[in-house]
Amino acid sequence: MSTENTASTDSSDRMKDLASRGDSRSQRPSNEAFREFISSGWDETVPVADPLPAAEVTPERRDALVRRLPGTRLVLPAGVLKVRSNDTDYPFRPDTAFAYYSGLGTDEEPDSVLVVEPSAEDPTLSRATYFFRPRAGFDSSEFYADARYGEMWVGRRPTLAEAGRRLGIEVRHIDELRDHLAKDVGAHLSLSVMPAVDAGVEAMVQEIRGQNGLPDGEEATAEFAALKEAASEQRLVKDDYEITQMRAAVDATIRGFEDVIAQLPAAVGHPRGERVIEGAFTASARAAGNGVGYDTIAAAGDHACTLHWTRNDGAVREDELVLIDAGVEIDSLYTADVTRTLPVSGTFSPVQRKVYDAVLEAADAAFAVARPGLRFRELHTAAMEVLADRLEEWGLLPGTAAQSLSAEGQWHRRWMPHGTSHHLGMDVHDCAQARREMYLDAELEPGMVFTIEPGLYFKENDLLVPEELRGIGVRIEDDVLVTADGVENLSAAAPRTAAEVERWIAGLRR
Ligand code: GLY
Ligand code: MN
Ligand code: MN
Repeated sequence: MSTENTASTDSSDRMKDLASRGDSRSQRPSNEAFREFISSGWDETVPVADPLPAAEVTPERRDALVRRLPGTRLVLPAGVLKVRSNDTDYPFRPDTAFAYYSGLGTDEEPDSVLVVEPSAEDPTLSRATYFFRPRAGFDSSEFYADARYGEMWVGRRPTLAEAGRRLGIEVRHIDELRDHLAKDVGAHLSLSVMPAVDAGVEAMVQEIRGQNGLPDGEEATAEFAALKEAASEQRLVKDDYEITQMRAAVDATIRGFEDVIAQLPAAVGHPRGERVIEGAFTASARAAGNGVGYDTIAAAGDHACTLHWTRNDGAVREDELVLIDAGVEIDSLYTADVTRTLPVSGTFSPVQRKVYDAVLEAADAAFAVARPGLRFRELHTAAMEVLADRLEEWGLLPGTAAQSLSAEGQWHRRWMPHGTSHHLGMDVHDCAQARREMYLDAELEPGMVFTIEPGLYFKENDLLVPEELRGIGVRIEDDVLVTADGVENLSAAAPRTAAEVERWIAGLRR
């Protein structure tokens, strides 16, 4: 999350800045009678809040974190708003670690901070405190005049008591954060912060460390990096709650693909048909969940060979394949990451099908070896063996498949330049700060969730492949849960074989 616009301000400065944007065009009455009138006559009843579903699992997560990083007060900011243009911001999405340890999701809550520390009674257990800016009373001008926090502008905001009930932890006003962070910090208690989330909070932590004799520079950086690494590694194995969320995200994503397929004829008839596809998926994702978990790739024809094609401004032609890589992020912020490559006409041509079947065979090879105990990196090996074989068979390699698979060869990677698998969860590329020995070199364990997503991409300007292959890009991406003795394909309800895909399209096209 970028914080470059706020590097030298703390959150209250930012608030004032945001509140004053557009003052020069304000015509709001400021007389006393108006202020009294707008502040009176409101029902002040506060509804009883329910605990967040995630509040059942967050205490265990926080306990595990303090056991891994003992003797440290850990500061997890939600993050800050980022300006999109002038006085409008990008939609807010909280930092993943903040969401994981607080249980909050959707757009909650910019500028808030979760603090996790060893409990005074038992340092193997955690104490957590949430700091945020609660609702202001109707008698304050914030209520009607503050476009950033005022309820007339942004809707109902929780009280301290409501937030406490939802999160199941102690909750304080954000103005008390500094005092809380500084208390007892020193020889027996360190202070660390999730880096690069909120520059204002990070500066506050650095200042408090300096005032209390804790090292700065590289030592501080290493402590902060250790928090980031711990938060990443803790999510490698999903708990039962997370697996339920992943299933919901994948199911919503498959419904989104079905909405897209229904729109394929409209996409074909539009000069920017890829946008029609992106729009259909986005509408589905916003209706079902928080939104898309990452920018949708809607790539027709040769665009499919651009790995991160998100401009999506191309036409969709009847005789082409369209590669759609999309995921719904549900309100708890878990996202799916699914790719299907569809024949726009509803039927694969023989050459499209040849490429499709090779990619499917590679994916199936990775599925076939996936089970607890396999090294994560071996998923890729299994898929590459198939693709190298097929490319040799088609006469595309400058040597044998075996030579290509050796460290000195790797020619096949010209047409499959990305990884086959990555962990998946709240971040689409989840657990990315985990150490190599915990990720690529680690053995699969029950509860891990990752993708299997081989592809083949023959660019239209690739002179090393026959003309008939040029402009064909195929990826098939599924989301996989490791079980006690194998894996479950969470996205199996989205058809995978060429024949099933053709039937899927035939059944859904309007
Ligand atoms: N959608 C990004 C990826 O597949 O990794
Ligand atoms: Mn992926
Ligand atoms: Mn993807």
